[in-house]
Amino acid sequence: MTRKIIIDCDPGHDDVMAILLALAHPEELEILGYTTVCGNQLVEKVTANLAKVLTAIGKSGKIAMGCDTPLHYAPDPQPGAHGESGLDGPILPEATVKVLDKHAIEFMRDVLENSDKKITIVALGPLTNIAVFLKTYPHLRSKIECITLMGGSIYSGNILPKAEFNIYEDPHAAKIVFESSIPIIMSGLEVCNEASILHTEIDALQGNGKVQDLAHDILQFFSKYNRDRNKDRSPLFDVVPIMHLLHPEYFTSQKFPVHIEVAGEYTRGMTVVDLREPRDPNTLNAEVLTHCDRDKFMKVFLDALIQLDKN
Ligand code: BDR
Ligand code: CA
Repeated sequence: MTRKIIIDCDPGHDDVMAILLALAHPEELEILGYTTVCGNQLVEKVTANLAKVLTAIGKSGKIAMGCDTPLHYAPDPQPGAHGESGLDGPILPEATVKVLDKHAIEFMRDVLENSDKKITIVALGPLTNIAVFLKTYPHLRSKIECITLMGGSIYSGNILPKAEFNIYEDPHAAKIVFESSIPIIMSGLEVCNEASILHTEIDALQGNGKVQDLAHDILQFFSKYNRDRNKDRSPLFDVVPIMHLLHPEYFTSQKFPVHIEVAGEYTRGMTVVDLREPRDPNTLNAEVLTHCDRDKFMKVFLDALIQLDKN
């Protein structure tokens, strides 16, 4: 059965990898559209990146630009991780794929209102669009099957000692989403670290086709941070929620109460995963992915790129 999804994203190197994986699986995942959000870079930049990437690989798609700032904090782009453009590394063509003349929130409303099936939201950036949508159109919550998101962590952070970037960037939005009672699947840093691509696997992508070359150029830039630190692999963060939709059997997970810290010098954006036992079943608001089978994961990911090159 095909699952209908909206991809909310801030491309972003790993966002693009997630989108490529989804595009290679049209029988399992029908992408109804992409909504973009301020995150890795300003929303205009990440939206332009997505339009260029779809153009580069000969795909079309509905793109709606979303919120240009987090709910309470100022945008905090990450040129160190993603470059000034938000997608430094590859040479991309001018976009022929057009961005819709409709805000992401209205796009989500139209899609959900007109769908007879429930829709899965895949959230790969800060949760601003989704929070605004839930607040603006509460009657459409029942149309959401689940929100599967890359964000948060159980133990340690990346942007702060205890906070992961997507949640840190807009913790107030994350709080709204995590308290929404909508089923949430959280791909946090721990499972994403297990889903790391070896740098030798990145190097081997070059020269095999248009899509693999693009992935190579994107991942070369993205992996520089870890290569410079003598690591042999880099996490494919945003690919995890998409892979989990395709192959939940590759993962283990557990339901926990997850609370969001909205402020704190060291803890802004911390996902406080309450590990204490016993757990009241009424408090378990998120299914947290805990482990994944890296080898199976990576085979499906690399095969997806090969598949796209055959099309
Ligand atoms: C997350 O932050 C961004 O840099 C990535 O695109 C990913 O969504 C990882 O913390
Ligand atoms: Ca992202």
